[in-house]
Amino acid sequence: MKKVIKGKNKKNLVGELKRKGWDRVADVYANDRRAGSIHHRFISDPALFELVGKVLDKKILDAGCGEGFISRELARRGAKVVGVDLSGKLLKLAQNEESKNPLGVNYHCASLNDLSRFRSGEFDMITAFHVLEHVKDLIPLLEEMHRITKDNGVLWVKVPFYSAWGQFNDPTHVRFFTSFTFSYFQGKNNYSHEVKKNDKLNLKVQKVRIHFAVGRLKFLNWLFDPLLNLSQAFYCRFYAWIFPACEIEYKIRVIKNG
Ligand SMILES: C[S@@+](CC[C@H](N)C(=O)[O-])C[C@H]1O[C@@H](n2cnc3c(N)ncnc32)[C@H](O)[C@@H]1O
Repeated sequence: MKKVIKGKNKKNLVGELKRKGWDRVADVYANDRRAGSIHHRFISDPALFELVGKVLDKKILDAGCGEGFISRELARRGAKVVGVDLSGKLLKLAQNEESKNPLGVNYHCASLNDLSRFRSGEFDMITAFHVLEHVKDLIPLLEEMHRITKDNGVLWVKVPFYSAWGQFNDPTHVRFFTSFTFSYFQGKNNYSHEVKKNDKLNLKVQKVRIHFAVGRLKFLNWLFDPLLNLSQAFYCRFYAWIFPACEIEYKIRVIKNG
């Protein structure tokens, strides 16, 4: 039977993550993911379902796929999915699931630091859900993601919002994301001097959406999400710390010719 992790056990999960890393918490994390915690069901996953109908026959890299929840959801909708993660144990759980119910997902145990096994322009889309906040060298990784994605392909990124309570509690989080983090790579803003001439990283941010609610407060989403997203600049600048949102998602186009 699937086990929902809550209360004291949930606290233990977070503590374990801090101390021992993904391999050591693979079973408990996979149970939590598969059971569908409140966070995953109501905050983290709904954006995935916006993809329905758009992924048929697309080749997708699920970067930091964990135990394969997102990979399976995409494969069920007709995508050809490759999952990469550095936790051997989480990948074993993903592979077990694939053996029981084959969906054609191809899993690789590797670090995102080395994507050299993939050809240039191999993927239509890359999903990176709750992984970029763990990555130390973001720009080289984005350059590699740009290389292996087709022209006009999509990077679909979800990360904790920078003022989220959980963001600072987790010492494995090494970076923080605002609505404007990826504008840096568009070459149009005030602070893109370092990467402006970088042809390896021509990105166009198409959509940014902040999600406010956490846990039992998610019923407030219908009210707060539209308000926070009305002016993301105003929210980030003046009240992100008063009403901290939970998550932010980006749809980013990869531009190769022009
Ligand atoms: C919060 S989990 C998210 C898993 C999955 N994307 C999901 O939404 O269920 C973060 C995952 O990123 C993986 N990860 C973190 N840093 C990584 C790296 N440098 N290379 C590959 N995987 C990494 C961890 O092993 C873990 O499985």
